[in-house]
Amino acid sequence: MPLVTSKEILKEALANHYAVGAFNANNMEQIQGIVEAAAEEHAPVILQVSQGAIRYAGLEFAAGMVKIAASLVDVPVVLHLDHGTDFLQNVRCMRAGFTSLMFDGHDLPLEENIAITSRVVEIAHAVGVPVEAELGKVLQVGVSMDEVLAAMTDPDEAAEFIAKSGADSLAVALGSIHAMESRNASLDIERAKAIHAAIPEVPLVLHGSSGVKHESVVDAIQHGIAKINVATYLNQAFCEALGEGIEKMPKNTDPRKYLSLSRDAVKERVREKIRLFGSSGVISAGGGFVSPKRSFRSAELGGSEA
Ligand code: G3H
Ligand code: ZN
Repeated sequence: MPLVTSKEILKEALANHYAVGAFNANNMEQIQGIVEAAAEEHAPVILQVSQGAIRYAGLEFAAGMVKIAASLVDVPVVLHLDHGTDFLQNVRCMRAGFTSLMFDGHDLPLEENIAITSRVVEIAHAVGVPVEAELGKVLQVGVSMDEVLAAMTDPDEAAEFIAKSGADSLAVALGSIHAMESRNASLDIERAKAIHAAIPEVPLVLHGSSGVKHESVVDAIQHGIAKINVATYLNQAFCEALGEGIEKMPKNTDPRKYLSLSRDAVKERVREKIRLFGSSGVISAGGGFVSPKRSFRSAELGGSEA
């Protein structure tokens, strides 16, 4: 089906206490693995294009591949800009057909973050495209625990930030760190509860989920987290499968034999996350949302350690 926006699928997720997986992809095999898993799981899915992916594949190429992948399946697929750097990049993404945007102003003073977010929101809403903003800072691996604690989202700022910026969803810092290679971070669930209470209608976004304990992820979904970003955990699987393939078939000269192993590995990890997030089975065979209201159905915790 054609791409959909993140607005409707995140609203559904928030109302029904599950989260939509937002998976980062850089190449055709990752996109195929992600979309195939979502289709088999009857789950909505967000394909997101990071700054690194834009540098690697180019905006138009990434957008084109996601649109084609979406057209081949009967589940809702969103094309999202991850960690948008500025106003003009968001404009370029709209032109390229993105159906969900992000302006990440976490490094800016609050008023400047609000000012740029609201400019992006104004033009995006004119054509029905929703915008994610970031309040607080989800830092990169290598920082100290004190830095993580100091960067967490202040629940008292959330309502004013949303009222002034008009953002549709909000990335919040609850203790996760981008690019962790093992799953041992816990989230500040009391903070999630306070933010959710302040802006109950706004889907919250968890970044840096690869390093977060599954128990914490499941708890956070009960308190407003409706979009969960996953990158490192998929990249690890892609590279491990590639390495194993090369080791097993050192003389092979057909790259497809290696890359199909990577594609399958990504697909299985996406399936695992979709089940954990509770979004498996929420889409009917016709591509609409299953009704009536579903109960949260997070899969049993577990899966392989990252
Ligand atoms: O925006 C993307 C993410 O927040 C992914 O983080 O690589 O730690 O899973 P991760
Ligand atoms: Zn992120």
